[in-house]
Amino acid sequence: MIELIEVYKTFNRKGISNEALKGIHLKVEKGDIFGVIGYSGAGKSTLIRLVNYLERPTKGQVFIEGKALDTYDVKELRAVKRKIGMVFQHFNLLESKKVFDNVAMPLILANKDKKEIQARVTELLEFVGLSDKAGSYPNELSGGQKQRVGIARALASNPSILLCDEATSALDPQTTQSILQLLKKINKEYNITIMIITHEMSVIQEICNKVAVMENGEIIEQGSVLDVFGHPKHPTTKNFVRTVIQTELPDRVKQSVEQEADYRLFKLEFVGETASEPILYNLIRQSDIKFNLLFASTAEIQETTLGNMVIQLTGDNEKINQAVSFLKANGVEVEEVQEI
Ligand SMILES: Nc1ncnc2c1ncn2[C@@H]1O[C@H](COP(=O)(O)OP(=O)(O)OP(=O)(O)O)[C@@H](O)[C@H]1O
Ligand SMILES: [Mg+2]
Repeated sequence: MIELIEVYKTFNRKGISNEALKGIHLKVEKGDIFGVIGYSGAGKSTLIRLVNYLERPTKGQVFIEGKALDTYDVKELRAVKRKIGMVFQHFNLLESKKVFDNVAMPLILANKDKKEIQARVTELLEFVGLSDKAGSYPNELSGGQKQRVGIARALASNPSILLCDEATSALDPQTTQSILQLLKKINKEYNITIMIITHEMSVIQEICNKVAVMENGEIIEQGSVLDVFGHPKHPTTKNFVRTVIQTELPDRVKQSVEQEADYRLFKLEFVGETASEPILYNLIRQSDIKFNLLFASTAEIQETTLGNMVIQLTGDNEKINQAVSFLKANGVEVEEVQEI
């Protein structure tokens, strides 16, 4: 659907060159809600601007539906751009136009007839829950309502791709939630592929199925949200994951490790089904090693539960090994650690 191959973007200004993107490889499949996360200046907006061809790559190619954008002629390019809707952080609404006309703008520009515009805008305003605001001006709306107008406008020309650049960053947490739910609904009901840029891991956790983490113009990690959240590798990814899943033990807990002679420490990870099964109960029942639960947390990702635990096992080495085998056999990921 969207593919970037070995893409570079260098800005040259006043003799100073700035490499905003350095060798980006990325593939977004149809139906994905693909999140791109990174700190400020990582190159996220530049990346999304290449996808709708507001910027051209210095090197490399951007493919939309299998065809490289630089091989499209002007007319084809206009058509493909119409298939890509864009939602902005600060809404970019025309303040002097009513909500209805803001949403209608792309259709007016495409010379659609009045009746068609009326029907489409009415349908869209209903979809985003703003039917009663058609005659209002943007400055009469809340931030969340403005973003709903921005989303309706982006959907007006029936896009197959929706690009969102920090679409919820100007909104409070509750409004963010409702906008994310709306994006989810758009993805499901209209079958629109969504690419969403954010610096908030909670946004990725809430709606994305795939994620790419950017730093200094590069993608440092990418994959399914469950994999990346479950096994972050790069320190920056770990920092982002830490904002939504607690894996660090509080000092007080660290001090509660019982200083016995023959203890061993393990980090456990439970994914999905295993998270709810009474595996630990069974372990404790059938083994006579001493079990000390130091820490546990769970998070909901992609409708799957991800559980983390740290346990201290004390007793005969062979019995501890058996316990570890038992856990592994039950689908729990077990990592022995020297300290926590
Ligand atoms: N038009 C431009 N001219 C020159 N440099 C630019 C231009 N656009 C972006 N840059 C530079 O490219 C780098 C990446 O910028 P970009 O806007 O893509 O980052 P970002 O990840 O979106 O950051 P933020 O989270 O703050 O929006 C930055 O160093 C920025 O200064
Ligand atoms: Mg940006």
